[in-house]
Amino acid sequence: MAAGTGGASGSEPLAGRVVVVGITGGIAAYKAVEVVSRLRRLGAEVHVVMTRAAARFVTPLTLQTISGNPVVTGLFSRVTRWNVEHVALAERADLLLVVPATANVVGKVAAGIADDFLTTTIMACRAPVVFCPSMNFRMYENPVFQANMARLTELGYHFIPPETGWLAEGTVGVGRLPDPARIVAEVVHLLQGDLSGRRVLVTAGPTREMIDPVRFISNPSSGKMGYALARAARARGAEVILVSGPTALAAPGGVELVRVESAEEMYRAVMERLPGVDLVLKAAAVGDWRPRRTHPTKVKKEGRTAWVLELEPTPDILAEVGRRKGKTVVVGFAAETEVSEPEVRAKMARKNVDLLVVNDVTRAEAGFASDRNQVTLFWPDGTREDLPLMTKEELAHRILDRVKPLLDRVKAPPGRREAAPGPVQAPPEIRRGE
Ligand code: PMT
Repeated sequence: MAAGTGGASGSEPLAGRVVVVGITGGIAAYKAVEVVSRLRRLGAEVHVVMTRAAARFVTPLTLQTISGNPVVTGLFSRVTRWNVEHVALAERADLLLVVPATANVVGKVAAGIADDFLTTTIMACRAPVVFCPSMNFRMYENPVFQANMARLTELGYHFIPPETGWLAEGTVGVGRLPDPARIVAEVVHLLQGDLSGRRVLVTAGPTREMIDPVRFISNPSSGKMGYALARAARARGAEVILVSGPTALAAPGGVELVRVESAEEMYRAVMERLPGVDLVLKAAAVGDWRPRRTHPTKVKKEGRTAWVLELEPTPDILAEVGRRKGKTVVVGFAAETEVSEPEVRAKMARKNVDLLVVNDVTRAEAGFASDRNQVTLFWPDGTREDLPLMTKEELAHRILDRVKPLLDRVKAPPGRREAAPGPVQAPPEIRRGE
């Protein structure tokens, strides 16, 4: 991915950024011309790749003129230089935008098929890939297409959903390409967010420790805090992996959602994905204890007057992340019914976290399942910050604001040099007690 270098100004927020625009064969292909034009006006260097079908809807010459660069088509005349070119373009891209994206291209990528210039470029691309699906509403609603989209979303691809409106075939339905201005705004957002180029892993929700197939031990976590963190990090341009226990919440768009049930499953999901992660936000309420034995069949009540369950500890995910973290910034959460600073500090040290977010879950309107939260942030340098009651969305952004300088300090953003290493400290305004 090209470095996010300077040069961006208010009028040219995309100066220095390389956007590869893939155009596939849908009637909305003509709108891609305006998308390209807008991207260029914002300062982006735009390279267009068209499929053979796209070239029947809009000419490569138009796109070449508007983008100011040669247009690559999926024609076999290019095959001799194919390998080198698609990889080079994929490497240079800060973002790859497929507009419009047909069911065909989405299906191919979901199936791992790379049989033309565009699909090979998508496959080789490490930068964010954004699909703008546009098609007949029956095709859009087809479970096969929906499953392909869900799979790609889970893998971290982004989708700008189509709108409901008048479709080319003369009916009203979902499948209309959004306005080019909206598509470009989303691109700017992804490229400009202060966490762009960062990989963030969030855990959310409760865990379930099964006693038998119909009973489990769990806790009241709704996942709202963790999902708010995932949405906020994604909105700020990060690539987000959300490892979630069972919740009733909708999957945040553009986020890789990994669903788990038990602490053991969460442990494995987190450890598998930890390499390459810049920031871990551990908002999940992980069960500390699980039954020593899970019964394979329902335990009958008849004949029992009491039932003594023997429990054993679950793996401590956060402590293990703390042990393996290297340069990854790690934020722990703690749900407490009485907040004792020495205990909090002992927990911080035990789990080797860079910041501990402590909820007093006895406070009204805060903590488990509510839409708001009130927390205190504890830093390893001995400082603390008591925050007022606010929505979980606001709190998520506040936490990210606090973590951002830490992230830049211990691990440079792509394309920048790292600052000198040193102990993790609270931001200066907190140390000064402002
Ligand atoms: O989900 P909501 O309804 O929105 O509620 C939000 C919340 C109250 C659950 C959240 O804000 C919160 O405080 N989460 C952490 C709750 C918790 O498990 O606290 P703890 O003190 O038991 O654990 C401390 C830390 O260790 C947590 O980051 C936890 O994820 C982690 N842990 C705990 C046990 C374990 N086996 N593995 C862990 O990783």
